[in-house]
Amino acid sequence: MNLGNHLPEDTYQALTEAALEARGQAYAPYSNYYVGAALITENGDIYRGCNIENASYGLTNCAERTAVFTAIADTKSKIHALVLVTKGGGMPCGACRQVLNEFNPQMLIYCVDVDGQLKHQTTLDTLLPKAFGPHSLEA
Ligand code: THU
Repeated sequence: MNLGNHLPEDTYQALTEAALEARGQAYAPYSNYYVGAALITENGDIYRGCNIENASYGLTNCAERTAVFTAIADTKSKIHALVLVTKGGGMPCGACRQVLNEFNPQMLIYCVDVDGQLKHQTTLDTLLPKAFGPHSLEA
């Protein structure tokens, strides 16, 4: 399904709102860097996630991965777009780019500041070119 290279404005607003809400759930007592993510599947369902830290720091789960794992536990639909909300509108980390790649290398990515300002709009294959993915195992 080709849904185009931009989200319709109302979908973008709904995802941004969901990501902001998700950020409110962030458990980040160690970094105090609160992250919210919301994604929409090609079916039109929205899933959200926040970062979840741990006293054993390396076990921290990023917001994007929380959202992806929640979605994939519930649906087989491809992920169409993801909105990430952080202070400053930061980019997804490398580990999350790899996890997102599994579920659609062409995914639309929006990075939004906590005041709702869009900081970056891109696609996952721009952020993770020549990715290792499911096809790599078929070579
Ligand atoms: N974090 C995310 O949730 N997503 C990212 O893409 C970057 C980092 C979280 C992990 C940790 O809880 C905090 O931000 C600081 O690294």
